Amino acid sequence: MEIVHTVRDLQASLSALRAQGKTVGLVPTMGALHAGHASLVKRSVAENDATVVSVFVNPTQFNDKTDLEKYPRTLEADCRLLDECGATIAFAPSVEEVYPEPDTRRFSYAPLDTVMEGKYRPGHFNGVCQVVSKLFDMVKPDRAYFGEKDFQQLAIIREMVRQMHFPLQIVGCPIVREADGLALSSRNNRLTPEQRTEALQISQTLFASVEYAKSHTVAETKQFVEDRIAAAPGLRLEYFSLVDGNTLQDVSAWDDSTYIVGCITVFCGEIRLIDNIKYKE
Ligand code: PAF
Repeated sequence: MEIVHTVRDLQASLSALRAQGKTVGLVPTMGALHAGHASLVKRSVAENDATVVSVFVNPTQFNDKTDLEKYPRTLEADCRLLDECGATIAFAPSVEEVYPEPDTRRFSYAPLDTVMEGKYRPGHFNGVCQVVSKLFDMVKPDRAYFGEKDFQQLAIIREMVRQMHFPLQIVGCPIVREADGLALSSRNNRLTPEQRTEALQISQTLFASVEYAKSHTVAETKQFVEDRIAAAPGLRLEYFSLVDGNTLQDVSAWDDSTYIVGCITVFCGEIRLIDNIKYKE
């Protein structure tokens, strides 16, 4: 696997691949890679001739400076994992390389980006769209891979691609969970062993709510989740929304949509964890 740090080197390598008629998959990441990322990379490797994985902690998507500073940076270990997964190029640029000047572009995909994470992390999706659109321009991939754990991000990126006519396919990949159900996240590394146990209640509650939903209304199911998280030691609910999986708008009855997803954000101590589950698909 080749490791490149500049757009120039990246594009030189990509030109050589394209000259051989190779298809290119892109997996954008912020590093601190785990088995969830590995599943995206392996899928891209299976579906494309070459796979580029970007490893870049994007400052413009952090609305909390401490979160940006504390974000784990583990490039060496990341490159080992990417190599094992069969990636072709790891692209690990500096902030100056990606943003030679401040990015003043504004991306707005209301109402997709005004609810849930968009409400609690103002500017977050603008930053995500800034960096992802730059990566699409730099790499010009045939396909790009994103995890469904960031369910709202995936919906917004699909909309950006649609509105900006990027000639590529977005591939959404299922959440990867630990054996006990906890959704994999780079932030899990920051949980103490006690918090790790407490955090388990998030996925357990979501799984239980799918059963509960079979004989209860949307409002009752929402209450069920809110009550269980409120009763769980060490956890503080930021929001739980039951939404249409395409529009991300709240549903009020199970018949409102054929695609219903429950999206949750919970603080475990200082660590902000997100997860989601499908009720109808
Ligand atoms: O999901 C992430 O890790 C990031 O938001 C992404 C898509 C790599 C953009 O920085």
